[in-house]
Amino acid sequence: MKILVTGGAGFIGANFVNYMVNEHPEDEIINLDLLTYAGNLENLKDVENKPNYKFYKGDIADREFIFNLFEKERPDVVVNFAAESHVDRSIENPSIFVQTNVLGTTTLLDASVKYGIKRFHQVSTDEVYGDLPLDRPDLFFTEETPIHTSSPYSSSKAAADLFVRAYHRTFGLPITISCCSNNYGPYQFPEKLIPLMISRATADEKLPVYGDGANVRDWLYVLDHCKAIDLILRKGKVGETYNIGGHNEKTNLEVVKTVLKAVDKPESLITYVEDRKGHDRRYAIDPTKIENELGWVPEENFDTGIAKTIQWYLDNEDWWKNILSGDYQNYFQKMYIDKGRVSE
Ligand code: NAD
Ligand code: DAU
Repeated sequence: MKILVTGGAGFIGANFVNYMVNEHPEDEIINLDLLTYAGNLENLKDVENKPNYKFYKGDIADREFIFNLFEKERPDVVVNFAAESHVDRSIENPSIFVQTNVLGTTTLLDASVKYGIKRFHQVSTDEVYGDLPLDRPDLFFTEETPIHTSSPYSSSKAAADLFVRAYHRTFGLPITISCCSNNYGPYQFPEKLIPLMISRATADEKLPVYGDGANVRDWLYVLDHCKAIDLILRKGKVGETYNIGGHNEKTNLEVVKTVLKAVDKPESLITYVEDRKGHDRRYAIDPTKIENELGWVPEENFDTGIAKTIQWYLDNEDWWKNILSGDYQNYFQKMYIDKGRVSE
């Protein structure tokens, strides 16, 4: 199979590419990424010279570029991770979320119809279902939960999902969608809760907790998400949506305190700040469908996954320090343009 992965230089995309290139040497992985602030080719150092891996820099919303790429590479499968992914940024600047997440996805869909793609997999999120109340622990998001978004980010993701479904119904494009809960693990950009807290705690900086810190997220180790997508590509039923999550609900305060304890820093670093606008209270996935139909089970629970993750950030300080200093953005120039491997 030739698999076009978009957004493969970001957090989950890079974990997926690293996993797929090694796990499936018989498959060809084409990684297309715009290298926005969230894209970092250092995440792919371990696979960049592998024979079944290739990288293109480009925008999923650039029609001409995308159609030329499909013409040249003729992928069998598309896995669309590329997105603006941070809720806080969507509150500051919603329009780039429409541009990338909605227009970018429909551009990929158009090319996929034209070139007869055998499977278009859309990487979506549990945020499309809105939020659940804190006092109803019996409620979970299932695949039948209505779309009910809160932020410009989740609205743009839900809009994209609706287009994906429409292209299946209208044009017969073979699609699948996955809606996953909060991921954590190596290579997560330090704007997101867990890496932000690890990087700040180790530097004895204040840890900003939004509102009362009681919001609940359902955490999944990133590799479990990647393996679920791989399974959906191979065994998933066309036209279906699969929720992915491992029943690891934690309040934000619990997560922050776990980080502090692991890096041996005092809870006095916690500082309560103004709440996020429209802040979703609780996310919780019911993964029964993917477990029963595809046999997926997560390999990590929160205790094992967070321990691994914190250790990774402690062992890879240079990785996130390069990001905080902005140096990582020179990597493409240094490794690709200066060496004449790619022209912009
Ligand atoms: P990320 O922000 O770390 O990475 C996004 C990647 O997309 C970056 O490499 C970026 O350069 C690239 N990109 C952005 N705009 C692009 C464009 N126009 N063209 C090509 N590439 C572009 O995001 P992430 O956390 O890895 O999330 C990946 C996907 O998974 C997103 O679609 C997100 O909605 C979804 N998701 C994320 C989570 C989570 O917890 N992080 C959970 C469920 C679903
Ligand atoms: O549920 C899946 C979603 O998870 C993905 O679709 C998104 O792409 C991903 O960013 C994530 O969204 P969240 O908004 O849940 O993640 P974030 O790391 O931004 O925040 C997690 C929780 O922590 C949330 O309740 C807000 C809170 N928070 C976050 C930051 C950055 C804080 O209290 N302080 C902070 O500084």
